[in-house]
Amino acid sequence: VEIYLQGLSGVLPTMPMLFDELERRAQAVLPPSVWSYVAGGAGDETTQRGNIAAFGQWGLVPRMLVGATERDLSVELWGRRWPAPVFLAPIGVIGLCAQSGHGDLETARASARSGVPMVASTLTVDPLEDVAPAFGETPGFFQLYTPKDRELAESLVSRAERAGFAGIVVTLDTWVTGWRPRDLAMSNFPQLRGHCLANYFTDPRFRAMLGADPASNPQAAVLQWVTTFGHAVTWDDLRWLRSLTKLPLILKGIQHPEDARRAVDEGADGIYCSNHGGRQANGGLPALDCLPGVVEAAGGLPVLFDSGVRSGADVVKALALGAAAVGIGRPYAYGLALGGVDGIIHVLRSILAEADLIMAVDGYPTLADLTPAALPRVVSPP
Ligand code: FNR
Repeated sequence: VEIYLQGLSGVLPTMPMLFDELERRAQAVLPPSVWSYVAGGAGDETTQRGNIAAFGQWGLVPRMLVGATERDLSVELWGRRWPAPVFLAPIGVIGLCAQSGHGDLETARASARSGVPMVASTLTVDPLEDVAPAFGETPGFFQLYTPKDRELAESLVSRAERAGFAGIVVTLDTWVTGWRPRDLAMSNFPQLRGHCLANYFTDPRFRAMLGADPASNPQAAVLQWVTTFGHAVTWDDLRWLRSLTKLPLILKGIQHPEDARRAVDEGADGIYCSNHGGRQANGGLPALDCLPGVVEAAGGLPVLFDSGVRSGADVVKALALGAAAVGIGRPYAYGLALGGVDGIIHVLRSILAEADLIMAVDGYPTLADLTPAALPRVVSPP
């Protein structure tokens, strides 16, 4: 309504409402290396495109005469109420997407202003101790890439706990970087230039391992990071991680129902169904197609979802397939690139306004009304 009323007085929106235009405009303002890092994916990007196309296979069937004048999109997760079932997915290089160069802080400020929780990556331009206070009253989550060195992992987790994060998201699918031709063609991996390693460079254990101040020899510091970054986490490691913290532990990258079942048995507090936006392994199923199986196997444990969400309609479909909350990835990176904090808020408002209006028009006023039985059905491929 606000947008239409402004339009009547000749004030038109300055930022795009739809993803494709958002992406085009962001490409024009981002440095080419950052752009290709954000936009690219694994292999020939079939899975990345499939993530988006999968949403077109599900159609919403509206219900009439419901009187959906009032909607409630709020959701309670891990003891906190979120205003809407949406969050900002961890994006390591988000720090570089802002013109200020401090995209982590700007994203955290957008989270504080909107109430939409952010999952802050391990790979940030600003250290987690600076990011956490910027969340304000909004719960924020720390995403952990589990380092090879256990003491370093312990240090990162306890720093996150001390800084006031509301939960730890352990990413399981990126202990080694996927085959990403766009980055390979440009020898492009921003972390290798030390851009997003603030959490390591400020860490006492990392500094002890390095035996020097990272600023005195940045190249040696980056090499040290390379040797400690990747660890193929196993269920044994997970039990150890579990013992480190009382914070909710959420496992990111689960796609197989058997893994979801095991996660429940091993005491995870949440499951995060995602294929990393198609950046890690090409040739996989669209993440959305994995969601129903994961939700069923999770047996009531909250399931977060991301990969391919581009609109409010996508959010509603993922919720109807059982997601407890839905992660926005690349769209907010582009919003940040185009308009800083306001740009992220614009993207969130556009997505949430569409989701809310769909729930109104389609007669599903609450999240409880959005069930697979009531809502989506597979439509024939175009
Ligand atoms: C990511 N993602 C990611 N995930 C994670 O757990 N830690 C990280 O540091 C990053 N870094 C990262 C960088 C960039 C540039 C992108 C685009 C993505 C994955 C992210 O959390 C999420 O799973 C995807 O972005 C979802 O896919 P879409 O919706 O962006 O296509």
